[in-house]
Amino acid sequence: MEAGLIEDNISEKLDRASPVISRERELEPLTIIIYGATGDLTWRKLIPALYELYSSGSLPTSFRIVGTGRTDLGDEEWRDRLRDGMERAGDHDPSHWQDFAAALSYIRVHPGEPSQFDNLARAVRRMNGRAGAGANLLHYLALPPSMYEPVAEAIGRCGLAHQHHEGVGWSRLVVEKPFGRDLRSAQRLNRKLLTGFDELQIFRIDHFLAKETVQNVLAFRLANTIFEPLWNRNHVDHVRIIAAETIGVEQRSGYYEEAGVLRDMLQNHMMQLLAVTAIEPPARWESERVRDERVKLFRSLQPLPVDLDVFDSITLGQYGEGEVDGRRVPGYRDEPGVAPDSLTPTYARMKVFIDNWRWQGVPFYLTSGKRLDRKVSEAVIQFKEVPSSMFRGIDGGSMAPNSLTLGFQPEEVISVDFLTKAPGPRLRLRPASLRFDYSVDNKASQIDAYAKVLIDCMAGDHMLFWRQDGIEESWRFLDPILSRCETCAERVDNLHLYPAGSAGPRRALEMMPPERTRGA
Ligand code: BG6
Repeated sequence: MEAGLIEDNISEKLDRASPVISRERELEPLTIIIYGATGDLTWRKLIPALYELYSSGSLPTSFRIVGTGRTDLGDEEWRDRLRDGMERAGDHDPSHWQDFAAALSYIRVHPGEPSQFDNLARAVRRMNGRAGAGANLLHYLALPPSMYEPVAEAIGRCGLAHQHHEGVGWSRLVVEKPFGRDLRSAQRLNRKLLTGFDELQIFRIDHFLAKETVQNVLAFRLANTIFEPLWNRNHVDHVRIIAAETIGVEQRSGYYEEAGVLRDMLQNHMMQLLAVTAIEPPARWESERVRDERVKLFRSLQPLPVDLDVFDSITLGQYGEGEVDGRRVPGYRDEPGVAPDSLTPTYARMKVFIDNWRWQGVPFYLTSGKRLDRKVSEAVIQFKEVPSSMFRGIDGGSMAPNSLTLGFQPEEVISVDFLTKAPGPRLRLRPASLRFDYSVDNKASQIDAYAKVLIDCMAGDHMLFWRQDGIEESWRFLDPILSRCETCAERVDNLHLYPAGSAGPRRALEMMPPERTRGA
């Protein structure tokens, strides 16, 4: 066996044993500073993900996690809160908690008081001094979006954004979505971030990209020869991409009233699902090349009409009261913190076209909504009908065309639907499907999307993150739609109510060809 192949084989084995163990040795001493350490994101996602990485031996040997927030808390109190939160957030083996918790400390930093950032900087330098020179800094903004600009600026001003300086190796900034609320605010936010950090220091998260099965789409498309030749307008009739949820707005009405489904899901997660499904193959599996292709795809989106015809291409809805999982739930307007006459959409279906040779004329239906009848994220590639069929009219024969489903969650599956002859003396057709369960034999080596995002930031890998030009292209496409949908006099008539627990507004069902699923 050639040396390269032997190494590949070994790292494949290591990867199977533990998802990120092969990175372990590459990671250098690290201090993670979480801004917004008492918030939901920290206890729900970040600490469980970091704990998972710690438990699997995937954090560097020398690391610390510094939480900051405006609340006055001691280290022990913060650790106790996190531990309670983790217990609420899921099923975790507590056996490593004591050791992990020893690396956690809390410093009170009011985001509006720059002098407190100087205290933070002094404390971090002291810790780094104790840990040995050369520690690296990962700044995680787990904050409301309005705080991104002031906090990033304050980090820059107190010197913690500097790389390779006073005991700091690298310094990176992790920014959560939403990145701006339109093109102008996204550009402004970026300018502010760039006063302290440069583009390569910034990691703009989209946790959908880090989901295993979303990462798998490019492997499925491009590591095989049999699918890609069909992946174009000659064979594909339309593509349906959906991220449906059964949950409502939960405790996030303040944010959601401002964002609505278009800013919360369409501008970011749905665009990335569209990208993995439709981009051109990059020449190499390198982050900048893959990100270039995503940007090219966003640039090729055909603008939607900006007059009233926009509502031929988009349906917006809002959930009313109804029943989900056998439980009565209130309508959106009755949720705590929501205005009783709110026009915020909780559902959107958008029909988009991509202006390039591959996809000319093929509609992509992007759908996302809350309080729907099921939780599912998937992309369905619906192929064209057979051009002429000798089986038309044969008893029992449904001539539904083939489809290929890439299930992202909760079912992590790839399935292909087709027709076969039903056994028996007479010719009859019956639907069948080939199904691959992505998690079979693999459960142990899957890592949570947030753990993946964190480990990639530590390794400096930008592959699964938004680049600023991509964010701007996505807003450039969505801005005219947003301003039309949010300001026109007809917006009340064009917000379709749907009962919680249903499949969404009837109008949206009429927009798309009926689903002709036929898999057995
Ligand atoms: C978040 C949105 O980014 O993604 C939420 O803000 C949504 O509204 C969530 O519920 C869905 O993520 P997941 O991973 O649970 O499907």
